Amino acid sequence: MAAKSKEESVFFCTNCGYESRKWMGQCPACKEWNCFSEEPVVKITPAGGKRGHGVGAGGPGSAADVKPVRMNEISTEEEERIPSGFDEFSRVLGGGIVPGSLILVGGDPGVGKSTLLLQTAAKVAVSGRSVIYFSGEESLKQIKLRANRIGEMEGDLRFVSDTDIDRIIGVLERERPDLCIIDSIQTMYTSDTQSVPGSVSQVRECSQRMMMCAKQNNIATFLVGHVTKEGTVAGPRVLEHIVDTVLYFESGDEFGYRVLRSAKNRFGSTNEIGVFEMSGEGLKEVLNPSEYLLEGRFKNATGAVVTCLIEGSRAMLMEVQGLVAETQYGLARRQANGMDYNRLTMLLAVLQKRAGVNIGQMDAYVNIAGGMKITQPSADLAVILAIMSSLRNVAVPEDTVVFGEVGLSGEVRSVPQAADRIREAKRLGFSRVIMPQVNLRSMEPVKGIEIVGINFIGEMFGLL
Ligand code: TYD
Ligand code: MG
Repeated sequence: MAAKSKEESVFFCTNCGYESRKWMGQCPACKEWNCFSEEPVVKITPAGGKRGHGVGAGGPGSAADVKPVRMNEISTEEEERIPSGFDEFSRVLGGGIVPGSLILVGGDPGVGKSTLLLQTAAKVAVSGRSVIYFSGEESLKQIKLRANRIGEMEGDLRFVSDTDIDRIIGVLERERPDLCIIDSIQTMYTSDTQSVPGSVSQVRECSQRMMMCAKQNNIATFLVGHVTKEGTVAGPRVLEHIVDTVLYFESGDEFGYRVLRSAKNRFGSTNEIGVFEMSGEGLKEVLNPSEYLLEGRFKNATGAVVTCLIEGSRAMLMEVQGLVAETQYGLARRQANGMDYNRLTMLLAVLQKRAGVNIGQMDAYVNIAGGMKITQPSADLAVILAIMSSLRNVAVPEDTVVFGEVGLSGEVRSVPQAADRIREAKRLGFSRVIMPQVNLRSMEPVKGIEIVGINFIGEMFGLL
């Protein structure tokens, strides 16, 4: 008997969905620890099963009904996208919501996913489309309390509090709204799967059914997915491969802004970000992130350097802060907040070896103000200047923006979209840009701003 019951359960990694016959401490796929949970083996009714909607895209039928088509018979006419009502949101989606697409919005609990989607639902409804919001987490009363903070809910926006995915799909097939929201996928269940709501098999099965429903009825669908730390509930990564688009909503700092990023998008680029701010009346778009990120900057502070990064199609100014202090206990400490630690140690080594700056016995800290993250090497030059400014205790002139990639020989290498960065610096009232000399060769001059091209990191220390 014991052997039989063993066969009927299987273990899943709740982080990435890896399946295993036995329990494991660490997931071999995603390397997460303590994330396996036991679930009954799923026995799904085959396609065309009892409810009639768990069916492949073409519906039931024999192979005789399936006709392969030629390339030129496929229509590429794109259906008009649904404006989300937020410019920041639409840009991350690649220009609006694609009808019939399935979009996962993941994020930590409390970051504002429900708020973002409720506001979007309201805006889409006001534009004349029909929307249904399904909540498995909150009662209708709780949703109303949230809605009261956000403002008027006009147009065809309706609410359902339910967790049975098959019943929800039944409602969607009957009502056929343009947009629906499932908040959250971890609270949904189908009685065809024995495991509890939130388990890997439930979350997967429910999402697959929602995918089919979205495609067959042409209903754009948002799934809310919580990022979970402890391994009992399946996180959004489990369904990344099922959905069309994966967005993550992250908070930059405790109370301030939120950043919407795209991790996968079948209908647009994945490097766009959208910036929002949580207020007393819901989320507000930050259409001018440079201004927002530079707000509250100390003028003439040592160790502070403004750099310009390209996020998607937008140039964004932000402040890099460096702090150098004498080491107290033996080994020198290095700490990087908002940038890659290895990149920082590499830059410090270049500074030491190529520019002869002795910081072996110094602690070095780098922080990107506002909790932003930089992943591009074009901030290298600003990091080096911030360290130097702190070391020499001299402020970098506050009207200066610095960008450029640094190589292992201390050479300053070119960066993409230099002209866009300069224009953004000029727009925000900066009067000088320090940048790679090599970029200047292939660039139209920009009027009204002083440009200093450099080839080697040491050339900019004269500024201090
Ligand atoms: P919520 O959207 O419920 O987060 P999630 O669905 O991601 O779990 O809301 C997150 C927080 O935002 C919550 O702590 C309350 C706060 N909040 C505001 O500050 N202002 C508002 O207008 C609303 C609606 C929420
Ligand atoms: Mg919520």
